[in-house]
Amino acid sequence: MTPLTQTPEWQALAAQRDALAGRHLNRLFANDPQRFARFSFRCGELLADFSKQRLTGEALAQLVRLAEARDLAGFLRRMAAGEAINATENRAALHIALRAEKSYRVGGRDVLPEVHATRARMRELSEAIRAGAWRGSGGQAIEAVVNLGIGGSDLGPRMAAQALGAHADPNLKVRFVANIDPAEFADTVRDLDPARTLFIVSSKTFTTQETLANARAAKAWLGTADPARHFLAVSNNVAAAQAFGIPPENCLAMADWVGGRFSMWSAIGLPLACSIGMDAFEDLLAGAREMDEHFLSAPYAENLPVLMALIGLWNIDFLGAESLAVIPYAHRLGLLPAYLQQLEMESNGKRVTLDNEAVGCATAPILWGMAGSVGQHAFHQLFYQGTRLTPIDFVVPVGESGPEQEALVANALAQGAALMKGKSLEEATAQLIAAGKDTAEAERLAPHLVCPGNQPSTTLLMPALTPRALGNLIALYEHKVAAQGCLWGVNSFDQWGVEHGKQMAREILPKMLTGEGEFDASTAGLLAAIRAMPKA
Ligand code: F6P
Repeated sequence: MTPLTQTPEWQALAAQRDALAGRHLNRLFANDPQRFARFSFRCGELLADFSKQRLTGEALAQLVRLAEARDLAGFLRRMAAGEAINATENRAALHIALRAEKSYRVGGRDVLPEVHATRARMRELSEAIRAGAWRGSGGQAIEAVVNLGIGGSDLGPRMAAQALGAHADPNLKVRFVANIDPAEFADTVRDLDPARTLFIVSSKTFTTQETLANARAAKAWLGTADPARHFLAVSNNVAAAQAFGIPPENCLAMADWVGGRFSMWSAIGLPLACSIGMDAFEDLLAGAREMDEHFLSAPYAENLPVLMALIGLWNIDFLGAESLAVIPYAHRLGLLPAYLQQLEMESNGKRVTLDNEAVGCATAPILWGMAGSVGQHAFHQLFYQGTRLTPIDFVVPVGESGPEQEALVANALAQGAALMKGKSLEEATAQLIAAGKDTAEAERLAPHLVCPGNQPSTTLLMPALTPRALGNLIALYEHKVAAQGCLWGVNSFDQWGVEHGKQMAREILPKMLTGEGEFDASTAGLLAAIRAMPKA
């Protein structure tokens, strides 16, 4: 395949970028009264407004041509056909099958019966736990479910359980432990009763150091309690779960063709199902399915995930953006940026194409963010007057009416508008004079009040933070990431860099304990300093 940056479509986009240089978003709006209507699109509960992105209709059309030239359609066909698009691990990436109604085949086998069987087991278990029918070994009902997992075996259900807190069973505590730092486990179980606590060991591989350490800590904390009454496992490695002491009937399967960061729809979602109930979990799946159908069938020019992928690529590769801020205007979506960090950065933080060539351009952005309006009082200053181009995704559930909720939504809209519009020197001077400053003082201060504006943002609006809307939203980002991976030509479904880091940690631990082994000078110096430190 022709390297991406040498394609005529890429060259045409560079020309579009040059033609647009210096044209402020204010001018794009002034020239086109229909800009909002032309750049906003809907799917399910979501309305995506791309009109505040630094794009013309022509540039967008050219981006669509890039998607066609990179055979995005062929990629989607192969993905939906269960082909091994994760070529470095020789696996399918078929998370869409987890929320499908029609059959999907992997290696010639329809996987839907097993998906439905696992889901039926999830219903059985979550309903038994919620109804108090699942008893601890002392005969008491369970009052706390603690998920032990990390990365994709933690972030999805943790984020969604918080997001859907309004739907949570108030009588069941659902908590999450990921870090190998024993402080997280200790803080999480401090107020829990071992006799009434059920752990879910969530690990696709059942080899992850952090999760296994926490599972051992849980076993010790439970004391003499029967593991069969206090542990469930979600894994692709049932033998290892059994060897740990979890009986097979307590193990829920996780298929090989589900990647960790795409797995919240699988049995990895069990803690979420315990929290919100299986009916709400199925609404979440339905929301994701709605986005899947849209992604696989809508024309690119109206296809939300494809447009988000293309606009993201435009910002990164043509406008030079290095990061993407995701700012949900909903306290309960506070973990969305952390969840998306794994989804985007572990998927597309890659530099080599599937043809084993250097990508030749920048790939995944550094994704970051926190809930608005809190972030306004922390980092928005940099958006307004800093030196960097920082595209932002504002995620805004409109919610129920009421003065605080309305103020929250107004803040979200105000940020997008003010960052786009900016404040000129004349406006700043006039503002100061209106505030009573004399002309000399106003002229001295005005440059400090100037905001150049022209900061691009996307607003994702939804009526309320419901399971269906959350399903729409998360599947939107999943497909955006897959489409971007296809455009860049990288494999979005492996994570060899993370594996390298894991291996390094495994090697360093025994050497750290014995003090023996070869290290680079810095690591050797740090190890010596650690050994010299007084032990608490
Ligand atoms: O963070 C790296 C990673 O491999 C993720 O892809 C995965 O979600 C996580 O570790 C946890 O892996 P497992 O579910 O096998 O414990």
